[in-house]
Amino acid sequence: MITNAVLFDAYGTLLDVSGPGRRLTEKYGPVADRVGLRVRALQIAYTWHMSLMGKYQGFFTLTRHALDVAMREENWRDTAFVDDFMDGYEKIEAFPEVGEVLRQLRALGLQPVILSNGEKKYLERAFAHAQLLELLADIITVEEVKIFKPSMAVYQHAKEQVLARGFVSSNPWDVTGAATFGFQTYWLNRAGGVFDGLADASQFQTVRSLQDLVFHYQNS
Ligand code: LAC
Repeated sequence: MITNAVLFDAYGTLLDVSGPGRRLTEKYGPVADRVGLRVRALQIAYTWHMSLMGKYQGFFTLTRHALDVAMREENWRDTAFVDDFMDGYEKIEAFPEVGEVLRQLRALGLQPVILSNGEKKYLERAFAHAQLLELLADIITVEEVKIFKPSMAVYQHAKEQVLARGFVSSNPWDVTGAATFGFQTYWLNRAGGVFDGLADASQFQTVRSLQDLVFHYQNS
């Protein structure tokens, strides 16, 4: 059992999901960015569709499917882009402040742990590529429960493995899920976005940056 854990969502929270499309705009034009953003929306929708049907496919398979659909919506075929985009997802970049913040949390005796809808193999690859893997105490994924967040089963799965001091996500649906489950939940709202309103504001705290989260733990 890992104690003093701080659970983090991965994609969108520590890993920049706008990166794979954005980094390909130079080579393919603005359509790359549009497709990248659409893939993000579709991949998440597909995880929920699967969960509601009681079915499961890995996050990368669903991402690949989302890419197909997003490109068809643009009437665009380009196998080189498909390869480049999926490769970009495997090497997806972390937000620049993540390393420093994880080090600061560790210095406070906290143990950063990932709780993600993604697959361990790809998460390990991405965090290793970002030179962050050694800062993580563990990576917990939905692969063991075969249902996606925000199913309560996923947060329960994490609770059985760690004593969590908090759960952090940029995704409002994930914040709602974790808060509903009963984790001490933090919404990382970097962009000043609007909350979905499905959890009561009293059920979670909002931080505007990961640095704010560190301040919070320094003072608690
Ligand atoms: C995660 C994505 C889906 O769970 O946000 O890492």
